[in-house]
This record gives sequence, structure tokens and C-alpha cells, in this order.
Amino acid sequence: MDIAERLQRLAVVAADEVRDGMVVGLGTGSTASAVIRELGARAQQGLRFRGVATSQRTEALAASFGIPLLGLDEATRIDLGIDGADEIDPHLDLIKGGGGALLIEKLVALQCDDYLVVSATEKSSPALGTNFRLPIEVIALGHRHTMDRLAAVGLPTTLRVLDDGHPLVTDGGHLIVDATTGPMADPAALGARIKSVTGVVDHGLFVGIARRALLVDHAGAVTETRR
Ligand code: A5P
Repeated sequence: MDIAERLQRLAVVAADEVRDGMVVGLGTGSTASAVIRELGARAQQGLRFRGVATSQRTEALAASFGIPLLGLDEATRIDLGIDGADEIDPHLDLIKGGGGALLIEKLVALQCDDYLVVSATEKSSPALGTNFRLPIEVIALGHRHTMDRLAAVGLPTTLRVLDDGHPLVTDGGHLIVDATTGPMADPAALGARIKSVTGVVDHGLFVGIARRALLVDHAGAVTETRR
């Protein structure tokens, strides 16, 4: 089964979690987009919920379906967040930010009463950092020096650039550098070390945030895992 069909099957199961009256954190990326499209179809059939977007891309996609949106500062609570991930370990800790949206994704995730990761099974790994580099969002001013400071604490990074050669600029106006960590023994400790570096805004480690994951396998079967 191709990935688009798998993600659509996943989206149907994820969208079943959304009920009338909910405020829903809407993730960023191809997996979250499949869920938003499914939710958009249901909104057009009468499902009443409001979304909080995790990126400008997601805001535009949700608005195109007429999904009502709240700003993060308007939302006093978010009942459920649904978002994808780049890598998922057995504790449901995550690497996110492959699409460059990690900061707003984390700001939204931390306000969610319940947070559901949606992913294809191939994103699972025994330890974060095994298959994916760790995105780190840094202040644009002085970013070369910030990269030097990260290297000095054992984290060599490369600046993420677009196909046109320009650096990717996040919705927050920052840059992304990607660190090769190898498999992480203690993601929380690594995250704290990265946050202590001046010039770092945040990183793509989501530790202790996800309580549940919906994973779709190559045959399109969806299973739920809980932490
Ligand atoms: C966006 O910056 C990311 O955190 C995405 O949630 C993550 O990269 C997963 O994206 P895909 O669903 O496109 O793989």
C-alpha cells in the first residue's frame, strides 16, 4: 500500500478522536496534514471543533477547509493535540522538526490535555537519534557562534538550507541547525544541555509529552500504543 493511502487510513482513525466542542492542536507535516484534511471533510459534514495551528502552513490548510481557528494565546485549554514525528522511541519520546516547525509545535503540545502522535511504523526506533538528526532552532543573529558553542558541548551541527541555497527561516524568524547525535541514552539530559547553550531557542526533542501514538503499518493496519 502506498504511503498516501496508509496516511489516509491513519487519518480516519485519528479523526475519530475529535468530538463536538473540542479545541484541537493541529500539527505540521505530511502526516498531520492527512489528519487535517480528514477533519476538514468532517467539519464540512457538521463536526464542530476549533483548531490551534502549529505553523503558517497548517493555518492555511485548516482555513482552506473552513476549520475555525484560535490563536495559541486565545486558547485557554487544548483538549487534544494531534501531530506527526520524525522518530519515536519505545517511551513515545520524539524527535520533531523535520519540517522546521518544532518551536510552535512544542508551544502547542505543552498546552494539550492529551497529545496523540500519528505516524507510519517506520518512524519507530529503539533510541532517538538512530535514524534522524536532531533539529535545533537558533536565533539568526550570531548563529555561526551558536553552532560553535553547540560543537563545544559535543554537538556538531549543519545549517539547514533550502534548495535555493538560502537558510530555512522558521515561522518564528529563526534558523534551524541539525545535529548528528547518534542513538541517545538520555534524551531529557541531552535536551537540557542543548537548552543551556546561548542562542538556542529550542530543540526537536519532545520528551514526556506524548501519551499515545497511532501507528500505521505497511498493510494499512492502525494500532494504538500508550506510554
Ligand atoms: C514539522 O516540523 C515536524 O515536526 C513534523 O511533525 C515531522 O517532521 C513529521 O513530518 P511528516 O509527517 O511529514 O513526516
